Amino acid sequence: MTKPTDSPSHRLFAAIYDPVTKPAERTLLREHREYLTEDLHGAVLDIGAGTGAMFPYFERAQTRDSELVVHAVEPDPHMRRRAVQKAKDVGLDVEIRSDGAQSLSYDDDSFDVVVGSLVFCTIPDVDAALGEIARVLKPGGELRFLEHVHADGWVGSVQNAVNPVWRRGAAECHLNRDTRATFESEDRFEMREIDELAIGVPPVKPFICGTLVARTRSQNRWLGVLDDVPEILGSVVR
Ligand SMILES: C[S@@+](CC[C@H](N)C(=O)[O-])C[C@H]1O[C@@H](n2cnc3c(N)ncnc32)[C@H](O)[C@@H]1O
Repeated sequence: MTKPTDSPSHRLFAAIYDPVTKPAERTLLREHREYLTEDLHGAVLDIGAGTGAMFPYFERAQTRDSELVVHAVEPDPHMRRRAVQKAKDVGLDVEIRSDGAQSLSYDDDSFDVVVGSLVFCTIPDVDAALGEIARVLKPGGELRFLEHVHADGWVGSVQNAVNPVWRRGAAECHLNRDTRATFESEDRFEMREIDELAIGVPPVKPFICGTLVARTRSQNRWLGVLDDVPEILGSVVR
């Protein structure tokens, strides 16, 4: 059985990813990928870039704004090799590193926008990844996301049942991550926008798309203090 790892390596998954996703890319996903690159500016990081599905969109954004700087991280060498080729094919100027999202080799406050597409289903340590994304984003910087998430009702039950097999076949992608709840309860970010999308086919459904905004570190410190208030009051009353 494949174990979750900080160094993923899935040769077969990488080989079939583009052919399998091509129909969805041409139809369902296009307008949402366009949303992720609307008015892009400054320095942008694509986390878990895969085979470079976002690269044609970044290339168009770079054509609109020649000062746009694009970086990408992709820890799986088989996906990364394809991403390097995709960048050449579409003419995107991008630096691609091998970092996992849970330990990014960038300085604090490096990026204006981080883009995550179909990646929070796979990242092994989501909390650590969000911490790193908050660190490398400038205060007020955006995390734009497009994710498939856990469904309610019978679709959710099917997702739970088939997830162990799905994960093995789909390079550790979880069908049943409650990424919406994770994002909505995140202290390090504020939710600016979130839409549930009626796209996808069970069990890969529904999708969410939106934008989180990084809080300043002083806002985070204050929120940390507020978290402790009930405990402090409790000890005073006792
Ligand atoms: C389903 S693919 C999505 C690829 C691409 N973002 C897209 O929209 O098509 C998920 C990607 O996440 C990558 N991944 C796995 N673990 C990761 C980690 N710890 N940090 C960042 N990416 C990771 C996988 O190698 C894979 O390329």
